[in-house]
Amino acid sequence: MTRRNNMIIYKTESEIAQMRDAALLVSKTLTEVAKVLQPGMTTLQINTLCADFIKGKQAISSFLNYRGYPFTICASVNDVVVHGFPNDTPLKNGDIVSIDMGVILNGWHGDHAYTFVLGEVSADVLNLVKVTKESLYKGIEKATINNRIGDISYAIQEHTEIKNGYGVVRELVGHGLGRSLHEDPQMPNYGKRGTGPKLKENLVLAIEPMINMGTKDVYTEDDGWTVRTRDGKPSVHFEHDVCVKRNKALILSDYSIIEAAEKANTNLNSAYY
Ligand code: MF3
Ligand code: CO
Repeated sequence: MTRRNNMIIYKTESEIAQMRDAALLVSKTLTEVAKVLQPGMTTLQINTLCADFIKGKQAISSFLNYRGYPFTICASVNDVVVHGFPNDTPLKNGDIVSIDMGVILNGWHGDHAYTFVLGEVSADVLNLVKVTKESLYKGIEKATINNRIGDISYAIQEHTEIKNGYGVVRELVGHGLGRSLHEDPQMPNYGKRGTGPKLKENLVLAIEPMINMGTKDVYTEDDGWTVRTRDGKPSVHFEHDVCVKRNKALILSDYSIIEAAEKANTNLNSAYY
């Protein structure tokens, strides 16, 4: 099937309310992860926890079987940028792990991610986590009508690459979100101000900076999914589902519940925010 280049689908208010439910279900699932995450746990155990949690909520995984993806979550540890397969290697003190998850609830996708820090990490790694999360919000600040995609892209790139010298992954981008996991437009984390599609009210975007401590270069493993940094240095990934509005973007997903659980979990390091 051929597909037009810019088939952007705007949502109605009632559709956005349903998308918020989907996004919030992901936030609630990531909150369950934040409550129990600790060294010794495996990412396969986290996958099972997440799969079980949504089962009771009339939702199904967006990721499982998507283009053959074999799990409910992506679990990306240290130099894994995104799309890491959950595995049976116990997590250890000093690891950083991005948990990315998507659900379909009443036909609408929620898709977001959070990077957790286990215990003690270097100040460098903690700063990478901090700056990447900040860059997500700097991008979101630009998600208002009459701005362009490139304004969001540039805000993320400016904070991470230009101001902090980190590598912005080029091969992978954020995306529109709705009845499909990946809708137009593409949402790169690098770009020029004033370029790209103009933002109109009720466009829903998954904005997801993937930021490397070292260079921007990545490669995909032979499993066809796992993306790693070329230089072996760590990478951080945060993702929010965001609705474009007139004065201030509406964030459909919710980090506040994840962060509260993270703060209450002494095995997790949240000293950076
Ligand atoms: N957040 C990622 C994305 O939007 C997760 C996709 S994983 C996949 O691309 F398995 F669904 F592909
Ligand atoms: Co996404």
